[in-house]
Amino acid sequence: MKQISNKNIHPLWLRINHWTNALAVILMILSGWRIYNASPLFAFSFPKEYTLGGWLGGALQWHFAVMWLFGLNGLLYLIINIISGRFRQRFWPLSMKRLVTEFISALKGRLDHHDLRRYNMVQKCAYLLVMADGILLVLSGLVLWKSVQFAVLRELFGGYDNARLIHFCAMAFLCIFILVHLAMVLLVPKTLQLMIRGR
Ligand code: HEM
Repeated sequence: MKQISNKNIHPLWLRINHWTNALAVILMILSGWRIYNASPLFAFSFPKEYTLGGWLGGALQWHFAVMWLFGLNGLLYLIINIISGRFRQRFWPLSMKRLVTEFISALKGRLDHHDLRRYNMVQKCAYLLVMADGILLVLSGLVLWKSVQFAVLRELFGGYDNARLIHFCAMAFLCIFILVHLAMVLLVPKTLQLMIRGR
């Protein structure tokens, strides 16, 4: 397998892509919460201070503007990763056995972070899951945005209302991922330096 040098563990394109994604995700979540508040699915609303857009129309404008940044940036991430072979190198192979043992070690605070050139199995699976979650968010979002034009997709999601529920659940998963992701970064701050400087 191709070795990753210590000099450039996270290439420049990836770092720009990652921070663009972080910004886009935050803007999408905050404007999404404001849109949700206009017609809540459940018996709660998000506190106004943690929403973006001021009112429904403003929040929709933010959501529809930033969705392009989120979608295109994510597409670029997938294309470059797949074409360059990085995807395979960083996220393959997967092992259920190692996932279980490393997950238990992580819970005990004993996960090995010696070699930052490689993701451990918990990271690999978490990153793959959040990528799939991003795709689900975009696809269900397309149904909510243009449900007549994306009629086949709408039916695949089980109808408009179901697509809305799935969009909400995917957002909730994303929020949980971000909380765990940030906690891991705080526990191993060297990784933050890596994602900023590349080495
Ligand atoms: C301000 C918030 C964030 C911080 C501080 C942060 C920090 C980091 C760091 C330090 C790494 C490298 C981990 C390592 O080398 O071991 C990383 C990787 C990653 N982060 Fe974040 N992150 C943030 C937000 C996000 C968000 C919102 C998402 C997804 C929705 C995300 C998805 C990912 C993914 C998929 C990777 C792996 C990238 C790859 O190697 O291809 N991050 N993040």
